[in-house]
Amino acid sequence: QAADDYQQMERATKFFSYQLRQHQKAPAVVEYLKGRGLSGEIVKQFQIGYAPDGWDELLKALAKDQRSREQLVDLKLVNRNDSGRYYDFFRDRIMFPIRDRRGRVVGFGGRIIDGDGPKYLNSPETRVFHKGRELYGFYEAKQAHRQLQQVVIVEGYMDVVALAQAGIDFAVASLGTATTTDQLQMLFRATSHVVCCYDGDRAGRDAAWRALENALPLLTDGLQLTFLFLPDGEDPDTLVRKEGPEAFKQRLAQAQSFTDYFFSHLTESLDLASDSGRAALLNQAKPLIEKIASDYYRDELLQHLARLLRREVSQIEGQVARASTNV
Ligand code: CTP
Ligand code: MN
Ligand code: MN
Ligand code: MN
Ligand code: MN
Repeated sequence: QAADDYQQMERATKFFSYQLRQHQKAPAVVEYLKGRGLSGEIVKQFQIGYAPDGWDELLKALAKDQRSREQLVDLKLVNRNDSGRYYDFFRDRIMFPIRDRRGRVVGFGGRIIDGDGPKYLNSPETRVFHKGRELYGFYEAKQAHRQLQQVVIVEGYMDVVALAQAGIDFAVASLGTATTTDQLQMLFRATSHVVCCYDGDRAGRDAAWRALENALPLLTDGLQLTFLFLPDGEDPDTLVRKEGPEAFKQRLAQAQSFTDYFFSHLTESLDLASDSGRAALLNQAKPLIEKIASDYYRDELLQHLARLLRREVSQIEGQVARASTNV
């Protein structure tokens, strides 16, 4: 059953690819992709495709019998409505296949081209697709590099693809949700340096702090997590196209360190000149530092914290418990 599911997902990928070449609307879709700066080569590399605008094009192409039709329903490529009618889940959308770490297509993201509706439609969870455990572009990045020096986490499909188009072929996207501990763990097994680079808006900044919190138990000596904050209104796609690859790489190299971001975020609205401000900082920093298993990061944060509190490290060390799970 499982092997067959992956085959069916692969067939769907090929079908969408084929439609991007053959469908009567294909030239307009290709124009759209070109307008966003993508070459045919990069489209091929990520196997970007097109889900046609009919009601049952994929269904007609892939459902050979009752069993395969039900399988398409299970894989959430086809829906069944209350009156028992079957129809394609993705219609008239640009399709981004999501591969697991072994390169098997497990889900899709579909972008609307024009008109109404949600901008992106993603495959719901299925027996082969578990969102919090996959990362868009991870397989492709690993294919491009024998050893990944760093990985950049971004929010969107187009960010991954646009960065790859610019030669920055080591970006992954966490599929529209907050970056989970599972996802960070996957990345830190493949690289020692992860850069978080979310959109330059409120949601992006919130996502960065959540990523930091989720990373606390994972950080071990030698691992590096940095944060690149983009100008308001920009995302990696718009910025790399505006500034070019070299300027973007420069930004990556100058990304904010874990410690800097940790304290600049916590102290944002505190007055450290007052006793109450310093007490509040200790209160907020304490439970976070207690989640850190790495001696290196624990010491680094305690030193920094002591300086901000105008105390000696020895005076605060005893108040901050050690993480129980020492790695
Ligand atoms: N997303 C989603 N559903 C939406 C909007 C967004 O799943 N309705 C996810 C997608 O994975 C998307 C990511 O969140 O790529 C980031 O959203 P956003 O910044 O709004 O989109 P972009 O990726 O910038 O899309 P584009 O550049 O194509 O407009
Ligand atoms: Mn490269
Ligand atoms: Mn956004
Ligand atoms: Mn975008
Ligand atoms: Mn965006």
